[in-house]
Amino acid sequence: MKNTIRIGAGIASVLTVALWASSGSTETTVERGQYLVDGLVGCGNCHTPRNPDNTFAEGMYLAGGFEFNELPAFQTYTANITPDNETGIGTWTLEEIVLAIREGHTPEDETIGPVMPLFFYNLMSDDDAMSIAMYLKSIPAVRNEVPAPVYNIPYATPGPAPGGPTPPTTDPVVYGQYLATMAHCFECHTPRDATGGPDMARMGAGGFDMQTLPNGEVVRSANITPAGIGDWSDDALRRAIVEGISRDGHILFPIMPSAFFKNATAEDIDAVIAYLRTVPPVENDVPKVDWMAGLGMPPMQNAPAME
Ligand code: HEC
Ligand code: HEC
Repeated sequence: MKNTIRIGAGIASVLTVALWASSGSTETTVERGQYLVDGLVGCGNCHTPRNPDNTFAEGMYLAGGFEFNELPAFQTYTANITPDNETGIGTWTLEEIVLAIREGHTPEDETIGPVMPLFFYNLMSDDDAMSIAMYLKSIPAVRNEVPAPVYNIPYATPGPAPGGPTPPTTDPVVYGQYLATMAHCFECHTPRDATGGPDMARMGAGGFDMQTLPNGEVVRSANITPAGIGDWSDDALRRAIVEGISRDGHILFPIMPSAFFKNATAEDIDAVIAYLRTVPPVENDVPKVDWMAGLGMPPMQNAPAME
C-alpha cells in the first residue's frame, strides 16, 4: 500500500474553507456547462487527443484517447466523453455523469483513476455539475474506442460530493477560489508528496514534472504562489493565463490550458487573479526550458517581456 495515491484528504482540508456555504446563482443550463467546459474547467485539455506537436487532433474534441503513461504505476487514456452510444457516454443519464465527475464512479461500476482531478471536482456545485452534464449530452457524438486503463497501484476516490450552490460572484476572492478549484490550477502547479498526490502544504509552488522532452529536458509547472508571481502585474498574469505567454515573453508549454482559459470572461479571470494573490507564498525556484527546441521545433519566438 506504500504507493497509494491519496490526494483527497489534503485537498479537501485546504480548499473547503466554508466556501460553498452562501448561495450564488442557481441556474442549470447548457450554456453555463459549455462556458465551463470550453473555458476555465477545460475538460478537453485532457479529454482531446493531441498531435505530436501538442496541438489538438481535429474533429476529436472530447473524444478521448490522450495517453498518460507512468508505467510501472499506471497507463491510461482519457475516456471518450462525447455522447456516442458505443464508445462514449451516450447511454449515461445526467445524474450518472454528475456522479462520475464529482465522485469518480461510473454506471459500469468502475472507478475513475487519480489522473482525473476528482478531488477538485468533488467540490463542484450542484448546478455547475448538472450544467456540465447537460452540455456533454448536447455535443456531437464522436466514435472513438479508447483502451481500458491499467492501474498497478491502489488509489482512492473522493467520498460523497458536498454539493450545494455555486458561490456568489460578489466576493471575487471566494468566487476566484471556486473557479481556480474547478480549473484545477493546483493539480498541475503543486509538487507531489511521497504518496504521489499533490503536497497541499506547498500548494502552488510548482516544479511538478509535466513532460520529458525528446532531448531529455523536463517541462515543469511554474510557481504561482506570491513567492513566484507576487511581483507580476495583473496584466502580466492575465496574459499568461489567457494568452499562454510568460512575463518574460516565452510561450508557455501548451499543457497549460490557456487555449481554454481564453474563453473565460474578464471578470472571472480577474477573480482567479484576486484569489491567487491570497495564496500562502512558498519559495521554489523552478527552471524554465525552451520546450520547442526540446521537441525538435524551431526555437521560440518570444513576445515582448512585461512588467
Ligand atoms: C487531468 C486530466 C483530466 C481532466 C482535466 C479531466 N479528466 Fe476525465 N478522465 C481522465 C482520465 C485519464 C480518464 C480515464 C479513466 C481512468 O484513467 O481511470 C477520465 C475519465 C472520465 C470519465 C469516465 C468515462 C468512462 O467512460 O468511464 C468521465 C465521465 C470524465 N472523465 C469526465 C470529465 C469531465 C466532464 C471533465 C471536466 C469537468 C474531465 N473529465 C476532466 C482525465 C481527465
Ligand atoms: C494541465 C496543467 C496546468 C493547469 C491545469 C494549469 N497550469 Fe499554469 N502552467 C502549467 C505549466 C506546465 C506551466 C509552465 C509552462 C512553461 O514554463 O512553459 C504553467 C505556467 C503558468 C503561469 C506562468 C508562470 C511563469 O512563471 O511563467 C501562470 C501564471 C499559470 N500557469 C497560472 C495558472 C492558473 C491561474 C491556472 C488555473 C486557472 C493554471 N495555471 C492551470 C500547467 C498548468
